This record gives sequence, C-alpha cells and structure tokens, in this order.
Amino acid sequence: MLYLYTPQDMACYQHALQQALPQQEVRCWPEEVAAVQVKYAVVWNPPAGFFKYMVNLQAVFVLGAGVDRILKRDDLDPTVPIVRLTDAGMAQQMLEYVLYGVLHVQRQMGQYRRQQTLRQWQALTAPSAGQTRIGVLGLGEIGGWVAQSLAAMGYAVAGWSRAGRQLPGVQDYIGQAALPDLLARSDILVNLLPATVQTRGLLDGRMLSHLPSGAAIINAGRGEQVDEAALLGLLDSGHLRFAMLDVFEVEPLESVHPLWSHPSVLLTPHIAAMTLVEPAVEQIAANVQTIIQGGVPQGLVERERGY
Ligand code: GLV
Repeated sequence: MLYLYTPQDMACYQHALQQALPQQEVRCWPEEVAAVQVKYAVVWNPPAGFFKYMVNLQAVFVLGAGVDRILKRDDLDPTVPIVRLTDAGMAQQMLEYVLYGVLHVQRQMGQYRRQQTLRQWQALTAPSAGQTRIGVLGLGEIGGWVAQSLAAMGYAVAGWSRAGRQLPGVQDYIGQAALPDLLARSDILVNLLPATVQTRGLLDGRMLSHLPSGAAIINAGRGEQVDEAALLGLLDSGHLRFAMLDVFEVEPLESVHPLWSHPSVLLTPHIAAMTLVEPAVEQIAANVQTIIQGGVPQGLVERERGY
C-alpha cells in the first residue's frame, strides 16, 4: 500500500499515483488504514506521529526538493530510505524566478519604479549581461540549471558548491574557504543551497559583507541560511541595494516583520519552484518500480550529507 499526505492537491496526487502505479493500493490521509501494510509514503509536511506505526515502510517519497524537515522528525525510523524530487519541473521554475530578480537588478527596475512615482523621465545606464557578475550557491539539479542557463544568456556566472561541479560557462568555486572570494565577485548573489547543518546560518553579517557595495541577493534556498537581521542592516546601510526573498527564518513571515515594508525588498511566499503533480508522480512511480526491482532510486537522500 502507498499512503499519501500533502496539504495541497491531495485528490489529484491520489488519482495520478493510482494511475501510474495500478498494482499499488493508493490511500490518503486521514483515511484509517492498517499502518503495518503501508510500504511507501508520499508526503509533504505530514502531521506529527504520521509514520509512528508504519513498521514496514520501504521508502518515504518527499514531494519537494528539500528534505530538511523530514530529517528532523522523531516518528520516522532513521533506517527508512528517503527519496526527494530531483528537478521534476522545479529547475525551470527556479530559473524563471531568479531571472526575474536578475533582470530587476541589471535593468534597474527598482530605480525606474522610484522615478515613476516622481514622474521623472530619466534614462539610466545599465550594465550589460557580461558585466553583471552572478554568484550561484548550490549547484545541484536546480542550482546547476540556473547557473548554466544564466551563463548561456551571457551573464558572468560563478557557482559555489561543496564538492565542485564543472558546468559550461560557469566558474567553479569549491568548498568553504572559497566562499568569501565567490561573494566578493558577485553583483547578484543567488542562494539555492539545501538546508543542512553546514549551510545553516552560512550567510551571516560577516559573510554577506564580502559582497561588493551595491550588490543584490536573491534567496530561494532556505530562510535559516541567511541572517535576516544582518541582511536588513546591510540593506539599510545601502551596502546591499536589493533583496528578493522567497524563504524566511519563520514561515509564514510574521505580519509585523520589517521585511514586508522594506523599500529594497521584493518578497514572495515560498513559491519560487512549486512541486508539479505530473512530473512529481512520474518520478515517484519510476522510483517505486526501481525499488521493487532492487535498484537505487533517483534522489535517494544521504542522511549524513543532509540532501
Ligand atoms: C521547496 O521548498 C522544496 O524543498 O521543494
């Protein structure tokens, strides 16, 4: 049996999973089932205790790219394999989101917006794509696609990752020691890192200060990777000129939070790359077949690594 929980589109997922896996019985929360019969769980943020009696679980499929929350659960046996989505339509959405932010900065749209409120007709000189240095943190399926696509559009792109990754047109920065150098050459910093012990709090005030004066940041990774108070300080001082934020230390962002009304901030409610039913189900169904055949599913999480 496959048991499903997702806060959104549950009926759609159930239908699509049942079609893709006709030999499995697909049931969904809050339907009462015999927990011992559940072999596969497909979830996004299931309620506490969800996995408690699922003693025959063979795999948990997460309906997202980030597995930070599932790794922190205390109701899930730590030997059960966790499988995340890899790309599944998210890389292209992320590229669109980041590109919007990049163009906003490069083509000075914030400035034109301010000029518009003053009815000021004034041309500004914009740097070319080649003069716009972008630093992408995280070069997995999503970050790698974003970095190489921006490079193909002519931007001066460098990428930073734990282990390094050669991508066409992308300068490779590897490991912790190289991070300040990557920041120092980034007019626009794009954070697409997974949430791990190593990346938590990575972009604190000291680290963000390595960005050149007038730089911008786009955060669509995880909120806890960026020190929000330090970010606000750098925006107020003008060291950073713009931040486009999709993720926050606490979500939903509290209504009293100063980020909401900051003139240099454009924020969105964690929508940069949404999980799409069709590609997600296709990937999960293929992975279930792989597991049944004794293979290693695509997107198998290495728990010690955290993604
Ligand atoms: C969204 O944040 C995801 O991890 O897929």
